[in-house]
Amino acid sequence: MPATVIVGLQWGDEGKGKTTDFLAEQTAMVVRYQGGDNAGHTVVRGDEVFKLRLTPSGVLYPHITSVIGNGVVVNPVTLISELDMLMERGIDVGRVRVSRSSHVIMPYHVALDRANEERLGGAAVGTTGRGIGPTYGDRAWRLGLRMEDLLDAAVLRERIERVLPDKNLLLRSMDAETFTVEELVAQAARWGERLRDHLDDTTWLVQAALARGQHVLLEGAQGTLLDLDHGSYPFVTSSNPVAGGACTGGGIGPLQVDEVIGVMKAYSTRVGAGPYPTELTEEIGAGIAQRGHEYGTVTGRPRRVGWFDAVPLRYAVAVNSVSSIMLNKLDILSGVDPLRVCVAYEIDGRRVETWPSSGAALARARPVFEDFAGWMEPINDVRSLADLPENARRYVTAIEQHAGVPIVLVSVGPERTQTIERAWRPMRQRSGIPT
Ligand code: IMP
Repeated sequence: MPATVIVGLQWGDEGKGKTTDFLAEQTAMVVRYQGGDNAGHTVVRGDEVFKLRLTPSGVLYPHITSVIGNGVVVNPVTLISELDMLMERGIDVGRVRVSRSSHVIMPYHVALDRANEERLGGAAVGTTGRGIGPTYGDRAWRLGLRMEDLLDAAVLRERIERVLPDKNLLLRSMDAETFTVEELVAQAARWGERLRDHLDDTTWLVQAALARGQHVLLEGAQGTLLDLDHGSYPFVTSSNPVAGGACTGGGIGPLQVDEVIGVMKAYSTRVGAGPYPTELTEEIGAGIAQRGHEYGTVTGRPRRVGWFDAVPLRYAVAVNSVSSIMLNKLDILSGVDPLRVCVAYEIDGRRVETWPSSGAALARARPVFEDFAGWMEPINDVRSLADLPENARRYVTAIEQHAGVPIVLVSVGPERTQTIERAWRPMRQRSGIPT
């Protein structure tokens, strides 16, 4: 049985939560493999809306074990409040497992993230202010606290005593709040007490599920274009949302991945600073933003909106070895005419069809558009590709041709049922588009 990776092909917020939710019935385990509470998954079920930041969206299903993998950075305050919220709403959280090896976002990480952004002023990355960068930084510098450390007061004290003087020094230099060893040790020990029963060696949990022949979904946060290695550095997050991150952060080997489902929207959005060649600053963008509710789940910030960009799409398909695609929010484009798709860039007078590795080059890129006639009618009730307006079909087909892999699911509304299923489970189908 397969391990399936769900990965964002754009700048995050592609609707991965809906994809996971859609596949949930066949799934025994959902694993988050990177990021932290900078992410936000919105899952709509009937009248109920669940906003989840850390817990994989599979938690809403009683048959699914939800795993927070070793590659995730965990803010225990967020996790505890999320578990409390779910319990209050009648969801059993006993199956939420958190890797003992995942790193803890400490209050000084959050303070450092925010103070540093302020210091950067106009050069700020526009982070979510959740301490993501400083926590991954400490992890790489071997100064981090892992979730299992929360269970041992002596280890906690030793680690915090070692790092805090430097953190406070830096915080003081930026006129930010400082912390005491005593308050942090006491706080962290309380988190450990509360989360003790959820901590686990999640790599073995995942491996055991696969060995039993169960279907495991590995769920990425953010998206390929925010990847620390593959995005437009430094305007990226501090982890690897790409499918490869599922191996390091989820505890599986590359050959255990059977399918990679790329998720993207029918247009693009980006939160935070950084180059964005197809950005729409006109009214059309505001209209799409409003209809698509393009506001950050975590920060509430309005997202930047742009035309669909096929240049990074081709890159994302390659670097993630995407086998099939879910295209979301096609319905939001009803009434937009014409529709534009960026098919290449012009950089310093040259036509470029490949995603540039240099953020500076990307900042100079001018989009080369291909225009498509739009459609006027709402499509929320359409359930088959054949029933879509012809112009919508043309638009989907054009995007699919650029991707070079099949679009198997098309979402036409927030509800789980508002989904067009095209070719179901095209396992291992790496190229060629079904007719
Ligand atoms: P950080 O992950 O908070 O350090 O932020 C780094 C960059 O990633 C900023 O541009 C954020 O806006 C962006 N980012 C982080 N998480 C998300 C997300 O879930 N959706 C969209 N953008 C995100």
